[in-house]
Amino acid sequence: MGFRIISAAEAASIIKNGDVIGLSGFTPAGTPKAVTPEIAKIAEAEHAKGNPFKISILTGASTGDSCDGILARAKAIDFRAPYTTNADFRKAVNNGEISYNDIHLSQMAQRIRYKFLGKLSVAIIEACDVTPDGKIYLTASVGISPTIARMADKIIIELNAAHSTKIKGMHDIFEPQDPPCRKTIEIFKPSDRIGVPYIQVDPAKIVGIVEVNKPDEARAFSAPDPVTDKIGQNVADFLAADMKAGRIPSSFLPLQSGVGNIANAVLGALGRDKTIPAFEMYTEVLQDAVVDLIKQGRVKFGSTCSLTVTNECLQDIYDNMDFFKDKLILRPSEISNNPEIVRRLGIISINTALEADIYGNVNSTHVCGTKMMNGIGGSGDFTRGAYISIFTCPSVAKEGKISAIVPMVSHHDHSEHSVSIIVTEQGVADLRGKCPMDRAKLIIENCVHPSYKEMLWDYLKICSKGHTPHQLSAAFAMHDTFMRTGDMRNTKWEEYIK
Ligand code: COA
Repeated sequence: MGFRIISAAEAASIIKNGDVIGLSGFTPAGTPKAVTPEIAKIAEAEHAKGNPFKISILTGASTGDSCDGILARAKAIDFRAPYTTNADFRKAVNNGEISYNDIHLSQMAQRIRYKFLGKLSVAIIEACDVTPDGKIYLTASVGISPTIARMADKIIIELNAAHSTKIKGMHDIFEPQDPPCRKTIEIFKPSDRIGVPYIQVDPAKIVGIVEVNKPDEARAFSAPDPVTDKIGQNVADFLAADMKAGRIPSSFLPLQSGVGNIANAVLGALGRDKTIPAFEMYTEVLQDAVVDLIKQGRVKFGSTCSLTVTNECLQDIYDNMDFFKDKLILRPSEISNNPEIVRRLGIISINTALEADIYGNVNSTHVCGTKMMNGIGGSGDFTRGAYISIFTCPSVAKEGKISAIVPMVSHHDHSEHSVSIIVTEQGVADLRGKCPMDRAKLIIENCVHPSYKEMLWDYLKICSKGHTPHQLSAAFAMHDTFMRTGDMRNTKWEEYIK
C-alpha cells in the first residue's frame, strides 16, 4: 500500500508532551488499541524521570480501556472531551486531576473545525483498509474521524485485522460546511446517503501504519431484570397507545435509543409489540438488540454512528454482510446526532436519566450535583429536537436509598421545556401540554417509588406559591440527607424550612 509499517511504540514516540491528539472511534467501537498503551508507557517513563508528560484527547465519544483507562491510570491526560464511561478516568476527573469538557457529541467535530479546542498534532485512526492515494476505510464506527484526519498535522493508522474489510461501503462520510456557508444536510429518511464510503486525506500526512489484530473492547450488557423489563414494557405500551390515538403516524417514526440495559430492554419490548409496525432507527449507538430486530424484520433500517455490539454480534454482521449491507449505515457523529435532521425526521428519542425532578427537568450526568458520572453524550442532541422525547430510569437507585425523582435536579442537563415523557418501572408520566403543577402530580403519582411518594406529596405542601412551586431551602433536602446519612428516606422537611 506504499506506507511505512511502524511499531506501536514508534508511532507513540511521535506524540510529545502538551500535544492535542484526536482518536477515531465512538464508544469502544473503532477506537485505537495499540498506540495509546504505548503513549501511556512513555508518560510513565517520563514521570519516573521527573519530567512532565500529558496530552489532550479529542474523540467521538467514550473509548475502550486501551485509551481512556490506560492513559488515565498513567496520569497522561491533561484535558479530554467529550463523553466517557471509564471508571478510572471518572475517578481522576472527580479528583480534579483531569480537566474534562462534557460537550454535546454532535458539536465535537465542528468545535474542532472552529478551533475552539486547540491545534491537533496527530490523529490516530483505526482502519480496515487504506489506499496509496489516501482513502481511509474505517471500521465499526465513524465518530469525528473525518474531521480529525483532515485537521491533524499527522495521521497514524491502526490497520486492524480483527475487523473485516467487508464493512467497506457501510460508511457514509460527509462533513458539512461551516457557517456562514452551511447548507441543508440532505437526509430526508434514515437510509439516505450523502457522502462517500471513505475518508480522503493527503497521503503525505500518513506517517505510518501500525498493524493490529485486536477486537473492539465493547462490553456485554447484563441480562434484563424485572425492573428494566417493566420500563421497556411501559415505553412500548406508551408508544403503541400514542400511535393508536393518532399522535404518532401509523407508519411510525424513526427511533433513537441510548446505550445500556434499559435501552436494550426498551428495544426488546418494542420488537415484541406487534401493534407497532416494523420501524427504523436514526441513532448514534446500535446495540445487539437492534441487530436481532433487524434479523427478525422488526427494524427495517439502522442509521448509526457506531456498531457498539459484542464481538460475536459484529462477527455475525461481517459473516452476513450481504444481508446487512442495505440495512445499516455508519455516519459521522455530527450527522448521526444532527439536531437539524432529528427535528426533520421526527425522531422519537429514548434516553436514560440519573434523576428527574417533579417538574420534568432531567439530570443525566452528575451524582448529587457534583460527581461526574459519564457525560451528556448524545442525549441533548436528540432530546431538544425530538418529536417525542422520553427519559427512562429505575424509580430508585442503590437498593432504594436514592429516589430517582427529587424536588429539584441537582444538576441540569435537559430542561422541562424539552422533556415530554418520563418512564420508570412504576409507570409513565406524559408531560405534554401540562403546566408545572400538573406535571408534578403526574410524575409523583405515576413514576415515584412507593417508599418516596408520601415524601414528595409532602414536599408540594411546603412549597411557596408560584408557577413552579418550590421551597428553596428544602429543594435539595433529599440529596443533603443522602450525603449526611446515606439514605434519602431519612429526609425530614421540617429540618429544612427556614
Ligand atoms: N444518584 C446516584 N447514583 C445513581 C442514581 C442517582 N440518582 N441513579 C443511578 N445511579 C447509579 C446506579 O446505582 C449505578 O451505579 P453503579 O454503577 O455503582 O451500580 C450507576 O448510577 C448507573 O446506573 P444504571 O442504573 O446502571 O444505569 P445505566 O448504566 O443505564 O446508566 C446513565 C445511566 C444516566 C449514567 C447513562 O445512561 C448515561 O451516561 N447517560 C448520559 C448519556 C446519554 O444519555 N447518552 C444517550 C445516547 S447513547
